[in-house]
Order: sequence, then C-alpha cells, then structure tokens
Amino acid sequence: MSLPITAAQDVLREKFAKNRVTILVGETGSGKSTQVPKFIRSLDPEHERIAITQPRRVAAINLARRVADEMKVSVGKEVGYTVRFSNMSGASTGIKFLTDGMLLRELLVKPKLSQYTTIVLDEAHERTLLTDLLMGFLKALLRQRTDLRLVIMSATIDAERFSAFYDDAEVLYVQGRMYNVERFYLPAPVEDVVDAAVRTVVQIAMGEKTGDILVFLAGQEEIDKATDMLTEVAQSWPKEAPELAVLPLYAALPQNQQMAVFERPKGNRRKVVLATNIAETSLTIPGVRYVVDSGLHKVKVWWHDLGLDSLLVVPISQSSAAQRMGRAGREAPGKCYRLYTEQDYRNLKTQNEPEVLRCDVASPLLVLKCAGVDNVFKWDWFERPQKKAMVASLTQLYALGALDNAGAITPLGRKMALLPLAPHLAAVLLKAQAAGVEDAVLDIVSCLSIENLLMNPHPDKRDDVNEKRQPFVQASAGMGDLLVLRELLVFFRGLGSRDEKRDWCRDLYINFRAMSNVEDIKRQLQGYLKTKARADNDHRITAAEAEQVIKCFLAGFVCNTALMLPDRSYKTVVGSQTINIHPSSSMFGKRTEAIIYTEYIFTTKAYARMVSPIQLDWLQEIAPHFLNRREA
Ligand code: CDP
Ligand code: MG
Repeated sequence: MSLPITAAQDVLREKFAKNRVTILVGETGSGKSTQVPKFIRSLDPEHERIAITQPRRVAAINLARRVADEMKVSVGKEVGYTVRFSNMSGASTGIKFLTDGMLLRELLVKPKLSQYTTIVLDEAHERTLLTDLLMGFLKALLRQRTDLRLVIMSATIDAERFSAFYDDAEVLYVQGRMYNVERFYLPAPVEDVVDAAVRTVVQIAMGEKTGDILVFLAGQEEIDKATDMLTEVAQSWPKEAPELAVLPLYAALPQNQQMAVFERPKGNRRKVVLATNIAETSLTIPGVRYVVDSGLHKVKVWWHDLGLDSLLVVPISQSSAAQRMGRAGREAPGKCYRLYTEQDYRNLKTQNEPEVLRCDVASPLLVLKCAGVDNVFKWDWFERPQKKAMVASLTQLYALGALDNAGAITPLGRKMALLPLAPHLAAVLLKAQAAGVEDAVLDIVSCLSIENLLMNPHPDKRDDVNEKRQPFVQASAGMGDLLVLRELLVFFRGLGSRDEKRDWCRDLYINFRAMSNVEDIKRQLQGYLKTKARADNDHRITAAEAEQVIKCFLAGFVCNTALMLPDRSYKTVVGSQTINIHPSSSMFGKRTEAIIYTEYIFTTKAYARMVSPIQLDWLQEIAPHFLNRREA
C-alpha cells in the first residue's frame, strides 16, 4: 500500500484504459512489476489476460509468487508463470509472468497472441535480445489486433526511444522514493577486487550498527570465493558487532537458496548479499543500506570470427553504476562504496551495449524466418544487428540445415525453432531422433541445458576430484566429456536414497540440485519432441552408439571443431584460431586428430570445454554442404 506507485494508481488505470501503448518509467522498487498487472486486471477482471515478460527466469518465478501472495491465491491459478522447463499457469490464469523467450515461442505457435489482452514488456531498459525482438513483433501485431494493449516498463529514464518506436506513445513517470546515498571511490585501483570487496564489507560491518549490505560482483566464481572468505571471517567475529548472514545470489543457485535473500535472517544477524547484476534492477532486496560495487559484470560476447560466444567479465556502464548505488537508498539514507577510482568511473560507457549488438543472432533470425519474415535485413528491428553478425548467423543456420540454399526455412528449421533450445542443440536432438540414439542424446542435452551442473573445483582440489571422476571417464571409453556426462547421469539415477545421491554429488563436485532437475528437463524435452519415455534409461551404450552420439553433436556444432597440428596444438576449423583443451576436460593431455567442443571460454587463453574426439572424415560425412561451401 505504501509503494510509490500506489499513489498514482488512478491515473495509471485511466491511462492504461485509454492508451494502446504506454511507456512506464519508474525507479527500481517503486512497484511496477508487482502492481501494474493488478491495476490492469482491475479494469476488467473477467476478461483481462495479461502477460508480463521478464529477462530472467528467477524474476518471473519470484514475481508470480509475490503477486499471488499479495492476492492471497496460489501460484498456477489466477496468477502464474511460464519459464523454460516449468509451467505454472492454466486456463484461469489472468496474470502470467513469463520469460521473454517463452513469449516469443508462444508467438510462433499463436501469432496473434489471442490468449492475451495485454502484453507488458518489463525491464525493457536491459535491452536483452529477446525483449528487443518482441518489441518488433508487437509493433506489427498492434496493427493487426486493435484490441491489444502494450505496456513497456523501464527503470531508466531514456524512454524516448521506446516512445518513438511506437508512434510517440505516451511516457509516464512514477516518482520513486529515493534517499540520499553517499558515494565513495577508491583512491587508487586495486589488484584483487574480491579481496577489496571482502575488506570493505568487514569495515562496514564493524563501523555501522544497522543495515544490510549488498555486494555486486561479476559472477559465480567471484561470489563463491567472497562467500568462503566472509564465512571464515565471520567465525572469529567480535561479540560487539552484529553477526553476519552471508548469502550468495546468482542465477545458477538453487531456488531455495535464492529465496533466502528476501527473508530476515534468524537472530540479530545482518545480511550480506553477494550478487551478480541480477540484483541491479530485476530483484529488490529489502533492508539494504550499504552497497559495495566491484564495477564489473559478466556479459555474453559473440566472436564473429570463431562462430562462438562466451562470457566475459567487463566493466559496467555509468547507468548500471547508478542503479547499483540506488539499491542503498530505498528505505533510508545509505552509502555506496565503489571499488574503482573516480577517474575510472568517468571513463565508463554511459549505457550498456544492447545484447543484439554483441550476441549471436542465429536464434532470433530463425524465429523471424519461422514467423514468415523473408528479408530479415529489412525487418522493423528496434535495433538492427550488424550486417556482419546477421550474415554469420544465416550461414550458421544454413550449416545446421535450418535454411535452404535460397535462405528459406526448411521443415527441420521449423522444428528447431519450436524447441526451447539454442538452434545448434535443437539440431543435435533432431538428428538423434533420426539416428536412433535419441535417449542418450536427450540425457546429454538435458545436462547441457543446466548451467553449472559440473562445478569447477578449487585448483587445490582439482586432482582429487579428477581422480574420483576417473571411473566414469573409463566407462565412456575415451569418447569424451559428453559421454562422461551421461555416465555420471546414469550412475546418479541408479543410486538409492536422496542422501546417497547428495553425498555422491558433493564428492564429485556435481551440483546436486541441478542434477536432480535433469530428469524433469528430459521429460519436458520429450514432450516437445512428442516421444514417449523409454524404459531403458540406464541402457549402456555401445561403442558404435557412442560414435553415433558424437556424430549427432557434430551436426549441431560443426563450427566448433578443431584440428590437431603436428605440434599438438589445436586450430579451429572455422577461423583458424589456436584453442586449448581445458584442464577440467577428460580429453586434457590426450591426442586425437580432431575435436568437437560445445563450450568455449576465454581466460588467459582460449579454451575448449566439453570436448570429444572426432575423425576428420566424419566432418565430410555429416556436413558436406558446409565444408564444400567454405571451400568455394
Ligand atoms: O518492478 P519494480 O522494481 O518497480 O518494483 P517491484 O518488483 O514491483 O517491487 C515493489 C516492492 O515489493 C519492492 O519494494 C520490493 O521490496 C517488494 N517485493 C518484495 O518484498 N518481495 C518480492 N518477492 C517482490 C517485491
Ligand atoms: Mg521490476
């Protein structure tokens, strides 16, 4: 009731009733995501069917729970959510939170989106590729459906661009409640930002009596490290200072642990939340008075020359820095400690680069083709990708067999577009269906659909963990990491109790919760493929089948292959770049004439992960059209 947006609700209702398109700008935490759907629904509770998109699945789930709670209903009825591999909505759902990717899939199946009266694109300032794409589709749809209402919500004030795209749609601003935040810079740059963050947290925790602390770090690795360090410090904590409850928050974390950041910790403890940019705008954590900002985040970057994408740690923008700082001033005056110099701050870009300009556009292009857009270059993009990127992605789709010589979508491409997987993984799965190794490939693809299933042990523990994983490497008969993954899954399935499974996972550095989700994902994928579950889940595959499995992956990852040179280094087939087998791979230190890999990471060197051996003639067998074309 006391949210800033509540005061404006009558005006908002009136505007939503009148405008076909409205741009709503409001400070993070002002109540946009949780309240706007309810305002719209109240216009006509019988008939309003509202879809609200979120770039992140955690946010979609969390918001649905919150709104259901506020309305005193259970999730899945009036209020629900749909995210990849989990659907909690039904015929009676009037307010549905869903990821932007899921709305796009629904659009392919029902191009008019007639199941909804209103679409709300939330977190539009994040400029994810999929939200950008939806903006274009909805612009066209608004012309066809005069009864459709569109609301675009953003946490930053640069809304003119959205307005201009929709024929000068009205922009409304919700005044947020913002207290003053004092900001501090470092006098000189630091070498180790995790260490600096930990020291800053300790300093705040000793010096300030109340208020929770929110720390922004680049990614899981940094967060895990800081969590360990702080947990250790907390053990010899002086009695005078309130105890610390150290809580990590990142997308790959099990859900119950994610939810812990929203609760009051037991006793007199003060929360220290260590988060990625997930806490920047899409989730609001109550109680925060101090923000520690590393100035870094992880973004997906696409390497045109390699035909690969990978996550890189890069400096944030000034706009992100402002958002992070704002988290400290929501409930009372706060403080923000920036772990960089004022000069560094001035050198930051003002805005983050939109995803569409730095990511692989194969998946969106396939969606466009599937939706009947022939000339993707001429489509009404909210922001047009670079021509080079589009050409590279079209080539990739052609190599996958999703497009024909004339650039038209093939029946295979149509099937790929409807699977909730990246085009190359979809291609693998469809190939497996034809090759009779569907079950094993489904196992592997399900595993690959979960981030961080195999955890990266601390370098001290790496040898120990590798040794424990060795029997599974043996069982895979040298066919590489993909088959090791399946061996691990089959063994996990065979274990008895939950405790037994959990202990085994801990021992082998496998994410227990993630592993437990694999079966569910497999079931959902089977649903999409319309195949029945087979009873031979633990079927041990033969050498010939293993070869088939790798060939299926080759059909999807033909661009991600590398050849061994006489000096034993590997050079990528596409782009001719040097690449190394990652030390965590079962193929590390082994020799084989060529490899295929499904993951690429760049740290000090370029590394291939999830590596399997291949033979050169398989390339010719699986992707002749691709190779011939390249020679031509
Ligand atoms: O979307 P916006 O950032 O404008 O705000 P919101 O997500 O609608 O959140 C409004 C308020 O509800 C915030 O002050 C949150 O603290 C609170 N909230 C919460 O306590 N628990 C949730 N799961 C979601 C929101
Ligand atoms: Mg929001």
